[in-house]
Amino acid sequence: MEVLVIGGTGNISRGIVTALLDQNHEVTLFNRGRHPDPPSSDVRVIHGDRRQRKDFEDKMRSEAFDAVIDMISFDAEDAASALRAFRWRVAHFIQCSTVMTYGPPFSGINLDEEAPLNGQSKYGLDKIAADKLLLEAYREDGFPVTIFKPSYTYGPGMDVQRQVGGDSSWIDRIRQEKPILSAGDGLSYFQFLSSHDAGVGFESVLGRSKCFGEIYNIPHPQPRTWDQWHYAVAEALDVKAKIIHVPQDVLIAISPERFGGLSMNFGHTQIFSNSKIARDIPEFQPKQDLVKSLEENIAWMDRHNRVHSSDDSDLEDRIIAAIEALPSHFEGN
Ligand SMILES: NC(=O)c1ccc[n+]([C@@H]2O[C@H](COP(=O)([O-])OP(=O)(O)OC[C@H]3O[C@@H](n4cnc5c(N)ncnc54)[C@H](OP(=O)(O)O)[C@@H]3O)[C@@H](O)[C@H]2O)c1
Repeated sequence: MEVLVIGGTGNISRGIVTALLDQNHEVTLFNRGRHPDPPSSDVRVIHGDRRQRKDFEDKMRSEAFDAVIDMISFDAEDAASALRAFRWRVAHFIQCSTVMTYGPPFSGINLDEEAPLNGQSKYGLDKIAADKLLLEAYREDGFPVTIFKPSYTYGPGMDVQRQVGGDSSWIDRIRQEKPILSAGDGLSYFQFLSSHDAGVGFESVLGRSKCFGEIYNIPHPQPRTWDQWHYAVAEALDVKAKIIHVPQDVLIAISPERFGGLSMNFGHTQIFSNSKIARDIPEFQPKQDLVKSLEENIAWMDRHNRVHSSDDSDLEDRIIAAIEALPSHFEGN
């Protein structure tokens, strides 16, 4: 198949390109050419900014693709532009949405694709609007869209993130065997998906007409706790992590600017059902080893000098010192 990936050089789309080439598709990317890693010489690249609507749509209408995977459609304007560019012209269109359309607040765990769309962040609300427009086009005239909602996805092309957010200096903290903070008891669950595994899912749906007009969660089937994630990162760095748990509300009260993002995403247990994708796209069977995948991701960060020094800020050290000193205030009680 001739497949266009809008994006193609970042995190998830890099895994998709690998999976497409593995299956001998002819791959074209559309991006601005800003990413530090050059794409594989096996792909063709069209440079442009998809937000320059006329230029993007003119360029796309002068091309012919069997399938399009849109990795950077973030709002209804992006989706409307994609419809102007590709309606009636492609056999399959994959929209990359997100599980953040379901929350926070999330209405429960093991949420399937029928779960209420509760996403309250601008990111979630805009994705909901983009998905809605594309599904309307499917209902109106059979626009062959499939919507994928990945859980948290990591891999080369993106920094390895931690639960409490912030920059990449936490990797340096672990390397230096400094303790790290985690919010809550470290036992809230996430579904950490490797971009290689995600790529196989995106490739495998192509051409499946029964998936038109459908939404699929694409999560790692095995939820893991944030403690497991942080310990796996330490294992990938070949050191032992020391994790200090602090109530989330306390962290946010200490620095809303630094820790406020917890309430918008990583502070919540997020578990989504993979039953539908397992039924309709059985090739999606995540099998990447977590620690090895993290080693690869961190090696990418090191290659691009993305691991900042942890000596530039002492906020985390001061919080940890205060937490560790807290029991001494209650001695004798
Ligand atoms: N990572 C996650 O945990 C996660 C989870 C759920 C959903 N998602 C969704 O996954 C999608 C992709 O996320 P990703 O972070 O993995 O990124 P990606 O698709 O792998 O990388 C972004 C790509 O888009 C290109 N790009 C960015 N802005 C552009 C523009 N205005 N015009 C043309 N090209 C542009 C970038 O190249 P240039 O900079 O060179 O243009 C790069 O190739 C997003 O829709 C996101 O909502 C991600």
